[in-house]
Amino acid sequence: MTHSQHDESLQGTATLVDKPIHSDIQLRKLYIESYGCAMNFADSEIVASILTKNGFETVKEFEKADVIFVNTCSIRDNAETRVRKRLTDFRQLKRTNPSLIVGVLGCMAERLKSQFLEEEQLVDIVVGPDAYRDLPNLIETVEGGQKAVNVILSKEETYADISPVRLDTNGVCAFVSITRGCDNMCAFCVVPFTRGRERSREPQTIVNEARDLFLRGYREVTLLGQNVNSYLWTGGGLKKDNPSKEELENATTFAQLLDMVAKVSPLLRVRYSTSHPKDMQNDVLEVMAKYPNICKYIHLPVQSGSSTMLDKMNRGYTREWYLERVAAIKHYMPNCEMSTDIITGFCGETDEDHAQTVSLMKESGFIMSYMFKYSERPKTLAERKFKDDVPEEIKAKRLQEVIDLQHELSHQRNIKDIGKTFEVLVESVSKRSADFYSGRNTHNKVVIFPKGNYKKGDYVHVTITECSSATLKGVLANE
Ligand code: 5AD
Ligand code: SF4
Repeated sequence: MTHSQHDESLQGTATLVDKPIHSDIQLRKLYIESYGCAMNFADSEIVASILTKNGFETVKEFEKADVIFVNTCSIRDNAETRVRKRLTDFRQLKRTNPSLIVGVLGCMAERLKSQFLEEEQLVDIVVGPDAYRDLPNLIETVEGGQKAVNVILSKEETYADISPVRLDTNGVCAFVSITRGCDNMCAFCVVPFTRGRERSREPQTIVNEARDLFLRGYREVTLLGQNVNSYLWTGGGLKKDNPSKEELENATTFAQLLDMVAKVSPLLRVRYSTSHPKDMQNDVLEVMAKYPNICKYIHLPVQSGSSTMLDKMNRGYTREWYLERVAAIKHYMPNCEMSTDIITGFCGETDEDHAQTVSLMKESGFIMSYMFKYSERPKTLAERKFKDDVPEEIKAKRLQEVIDLQHELSHQRNIKDIGKTFEVLVESVSKRSADFYSGRNTHNKVVIFPKGNYKKGDYVHVTITECSSATLKGVLANE
């Protein structure tokens, strides 16, 4: 399973943990539903870890739960609308089960706390992304008959010592958080307000977590953060704007961290998400090129192909800079593939700006894109400074155009894979047929192939025979 970004099929997925063994105490039942990006899904695993140590077990059906948490996303307006509807459904359950506790976690917490708790009385508890250690206390407060809230954002919290309980997992791929928060202030983005300032996690705890996963049979880790290549460990706390020479000498950079994780085992694949083009340095590309187990795939969100828009978006790079980075990636790793994020209809976007996005997509040859209409978010730079002036129909028309183009680019690119042989990590039985496995190649492309005598977690060579725009299908090589 992969949910590197906003995988639609996973939105709202319930998360599940195995029951602790030999427990005679009556465990309370927790149901967590997650929305948004991979960071949020990873956070739900931290929440599950904290609460399973405090008298809870997780359940898959919300009807059975004593506590229901919705881990929420604020990135676009429609993400919030969806969550709100879900919370209204859960509130209905309290009619038949008055002791049921319903809570909101994650990115909507800070923004909508008073609305949810007081005005609409939708929930009993609101907890922001840096306050999960406080959950057992907050639940106790609610049981004592009060509402509970903690949305304090932290300068230090990285949950470094908490070993996440892996939820809803295939036992092969796992996410490992390496940074929290974001200091970039892109004009459209609400994340700095919902998740706070950027902090890096102690490198040794990351390596230990990766090693532990490997020993438990996992074969792929994805290092996670809002902006992973800005990772810098200088001993904890907020990222320093101007670290001293001595601090830098003793620091760990993202390239160094990647090197350390790649060394855990040649059989452990390493991926990362998400990188910011302005921080994409050659040292990272060098490390990627050096290790066969670091996947040759980079998700590098461009947002727009127009330098005017990029400047307004406060992205810190130009079209030319981005294309130079694409060239550098191909220079270090001719076999590397890329994907991106695109926003259509940002404030003041003209037909010409849009045409530049279209041409950049063609020039870069992304194998996949996450594409969105601009959605104005409260408190952001764009909300304060610019008018959201591109009409809805034009936003939608441009979005459809980039979606159609990406579909075409992906298909054409996949056709080129026919006849090639890839190493594929076996992840799960194919959803369509029990005789086939599903896995991914180094380029993060889903590959479907016959089971043979292989099992989950094996590496298999597959020769591609067919494709769609989304998946590759093949036969076992050398058999
Ligand atoms: N409107 C539309 N898309 C957005 N994204 C972030 N903020 C907004 C917004 N206000 C997109 C960006 C980002 C991805 C995670 O979500 O493309 O890279
Ligand atoms: Fe993730 Fe951003 Fe959505 Fe929060 S608002 S869940 S950080 S995408």
